[in-house]
Amino acid sequence: MKRITFLLSLAVLAAACAKPQPQAFHVIPMPADVTLSDGAFCVKGAEVKIDPALDEASQKAVGRFVNALETATGKPVKSGDGGFLFSLNPNLAAEQYAIHVTPEGATVEASALNGFVYACETLKQMLPAAIYGDKPVKADWVLPCVEILDQPRFGYRGMHLDVSRHFWSVDEVKRYLDVMSVYKLNRLHWHLTDDQGWRVEIKAYPKLTEISAWRNGTVIKKDWGSNDGIRYGGFYTQEQLKEVVAYAAERGITVIPEIDLPGHMVAALAAYPELGCTGGPYEVWTRWGVAKDILCAGNDQVFTFLETVLTELMDIFPSEYIHVGGDECFGGDAEPGRPDPWDVCPKCAARMKALGIKKGPAAKHFLQNYVTARVQDFLNGHGRKIIGWDEILQGDLAEGATVMSWRGVQGGIEAASKGFDAIMTPNGYCYFDFYQTQERDKEPFGIGGDLPLAKVYSYEPFEGIAAGAEDHILGVQANLWTEYITTPEHLEYMLLPRMCALSEVQWCAADKKDYARFDASLDHTFEMLDAMGMNYSLDCRGLIGLDRQPARTPEEMEEYLSKKDWGW
Ligand code: ACM
Ligand code: ZN
Repeated sequence: MKRITFLLSLAVLAAACAKPQPQAFHVIPMPADVTLSDGAFCVKGAEVKIDPALDEASQKAVGRFVNALETATGKPVKSGDGGFLFSLNPNLAAEQYAIHVTPEGATVEASALNGFVYACETLKQMLPAAIYGDKPVKADWVLPCVEILDQPRFGYRGMHLDVSRHFWSVDEVKRYLDVMSVYKLNRLHWHLTDDQGWRVEIKAYPKLTEISAWRNGTVIKKDWGSNDGIRYGGFYTQEQLKEVVAYAAERGITVIPEIDLPGHMVAALAAYPELGCTGGPYEVWTRWGVAKDILCAGNDQVFTFLETVLTELMDIFPSEYIHVGGDECFGGDAEPGRPDPWDVCPKCAARMKALGIKKGPAAKHFLQNYVTARVQDFLNGHGRKIIGWDEILQGDLAEGATVMSWRGVQGGIEAASKGFDAIMTPNGYCYFDFYQTQERDKEPFGIGGDLPLAKVYSYEPFEGIAAGAEDHILGVQANLWTEYITTPEHLEYMLLPRMCALSEVQWCAADKKDYARFDASLDHTFEMLDAMGMNYSLDCRGLIGLDRQPARTPEEMEEYLSKKDWGW
């Protein structure tokens, strides 16, 4: 009897890998060069060998892949020559990797952490989606025989997160990073401060977390005339911020912090009113929109404040770039008829006079240039570079700044033509707080605008860029502002699968993009996201809203998918 049981178990084991079927090739973003061939490599119980020349971070990344394999297949992975070989190939670029799978095993080569991270993600996406889960699953645990050589189109592949309008816990930010890493994004632009809440601990200015991190209410639904009167807020300690930076770095992601200045500063002014033109009092904002009150450009205390904040920030964030905001400093919408403070402030007027700025409508822009340049000088002196929203181009931007084009593509086009580097985040293609369909009554709140998945996918970052200026386009980013997003479920709904489409804009050469192929890969991606426990929109399958109501007939769906003009 024992012998029969033993033979049966052997038969079951053999069956586990007998003629298993690899997944169809559904990797997103599509790798640059892929040659599939017949046959498959059974990974269940395969051994793993890691070249000791890999640095510690790369070994750890491979270790995470091995753990996922063990968990999902339910079979321990031993080290040895019988399967995977991860080896260092210094001839590859830092974000490049090569994978070669035969029936006998898989060889993975890269030269640095990011290459290994991306190779592991590609391997995972070629396996059953359960590899992204946390329990053993019976499946065809095989990789297709394939040869892959892959590298990204753009070096900057960003996703932004607004934690001021609504606050997201460290664990939620880590989940965001997890899913970014699956799709090979490499920059988190962390919008840490705004009128409605300051979220970063600054030891020299304790009132930023005692006062500025909290507001006395939040707009109810979309009624700007209301607020719920409930105290809301939160902040990250410096230890927590460092923890996120380290977590991201292990996944090949650099965190770029943003201190939005000189506008979007009402929360800070509430704690330190002497930094505003009028001296206040100010309250942490309980409404959305653009505030009139901004930092006073004529007050040197403001620069002491900014330099102190940025010094502490640089200690937390080792990124080459610090984002200094610069958007929407003028024309605030909350108090019609009130002039912009810089137009009437004696200290600002004195500064303009001292700088020789001529009176007139452009004067404010030149004064903003002064603020930006002074902060830029300070950061450059500490080996950092600045990124700013495209308003920093108005007037006379100092050399070396990088422009983030958000009010359409024009800022990026102009920046590149003037010799500035640019990152493209045009709102018409990259604002993930926009609705995903025109059936707004069926969707959770968006800020407005329409940004369906296919429109994100259709974005071509070089369009309009002057010939020869393409190298100034460092990459592409999508932004997720959170005025109307209050739960992780809603946040993920806005993010996914639009971020998957974004990843192909960022990663794939223009001639490798193919919406039909991408769309056919989405079912596998949805299974992966299910395994990760992530929420996502199923609008591209005609199911709308958080509760995924059927909203389109097959004919309407066909018309929708054949849409070429995304002008809405
Ligand atoms: C922005 O969306 N205000 C940069
Ligand atoms: Zn002033």
